[in-house]
Amino acid sequence: MISPCSVAGVKKIMYAFSSLNDLGQVITSNGSFAEVTKSGLYLMLGTVSAAQGAIFRYEEEHGRFVVLAHKGVDGAPHLGLSLYAGDAKALVDAPGVVENRRASQALTGFISRNGDTLGALQAALLVPLRVGGNLVGLITVGSRFSGGDYTDDDLQILAMMSQQLSVGLSNHQLFQSLQKKAEENRALYENLQDIYNDTVRAFAAAIDAKDRYTQGHSDRVARYAVAIAEELGLPQEEVEALRLGGLLHDIGKITVDTSIIRKDSVLTDRELLEMHRHPTVGFDILSKINFPWGDLSALTRHHHEKVDGKGYPDGIRGEDLLLGARIIALADAFDAMTTDRPYRKQISLRETLREIKRCVGTQFDPQVARTLFQIIEKELTGRSMKPAIIPSLRENFDSQRIREILQEVHDDFCYPGIA
Ligand SMILES: [Fe+2]
Repeated sequence: MISPCSVAGVKKIMYAFSSLNDLGQVITSNGSFAEVTKSGLYLMLGTVSAAQGAIFRYEEEHGRFVVLAHKGVDGAPHLGLSLYAGDAKALVDAPGVVENRRASQALTGFISRNGDTLGALQAALLVPLRVGGNLVGLITVGSRFSGGDYTDDDLQILAMMSQQLSVGLSNHQLFQSLQKKAEENRALYENLQDIYNDTVRAFAAAIDAKDRYTQGHSDRVARYAVAIAEELGLPQEEVEALRLGGLLHDIGKITVDTSIIRKDSVLTDRELLEMHRHPTVGFDILSKINFPWGDLSALTRHHHEKVDGKGYPDGIRGEDLLLGARIIALADAFDAMTTDRPYRKQISLRETLREIKRCVGTQFDPQVARTLFQIIEKELTGRSMKPAIIPSLRENFDSQRIREILQEVHDDFCYPGIA
């Protein structure tokens, strides 16, 4: 026959398991951390019929416990507990549940120093939260509703439940510190990215500084090349490669004599030969650098190639030429035509479009040229979200001129080499 005492014991064990199961579900639920912590505390206090209690997170760097949730405490007191040297170790070494009035010598300092807060919480029990020998938090448990003492079974249940809460709290702290680390790494990466971009821009400015006529040329070529690449729907990495390629395409000019670059009359054969070396010099410079996006050295080498194979330095034709190089070639020529040069004045957008049309299939790629016209049409009709070309041109566009250009653009779409 089972004694009434045994029945009570079995009921208690079943209740303990049920509480543990509930707590496990609370901890692994998708609720917010604040909700999970509060539910976990309430469940734990309810299991042993405690009227008050609080759960704290341990902040090792500040030597304190910070309250996460509390129950049965009047008002919202500043529930913080401070730890002195040795307190954390004493709590790690303490038994699963510490009865306040029977606390070891090692913990009396902590308890008396935090007497006000522990008094406000009417803390009868302290339950240190530990994982792998590290302190992660603390739970205080107030007196029982019934006023009686806690039994050994109660203490055992609290100790078991605290282990689950310890793991939940520790995981949350781990997740938070990983998030913080990821945030720091992201900020660091953005900072490196800024330094990288500034360095490339500084190079581009150094190239353009050799020629007062081409101030901002590399920047504009980059902008036009990006606009064409985006209109063509190229992947983001290729767009980025074209931005850098546009900025650095003339880097080989740093070895060309400034007097040749600035010469305002026809170049001699020798001067032309030196000038024509800049794509291969640029290639030699950039091929030694490992860029994260695309083959910038190839873009630089081939930006003076023509689709009919009559460009330099390699005479590559048609689609054997990288699409990126065909884009930069057009962006480069477009900027050359629409800005003043030492040897000639800029020409209008209308004349530039005619010239591009004339050279489609020989110098320029038809698809790339068509894309440029599409962009210009969109910008002139106000359908572009981020105009890149028209605002860069030193030309006044009255409505009459816009109409004429749009007509020209429309005709270009019908041009057999482009459409
Ligand atoms: Fe060039």
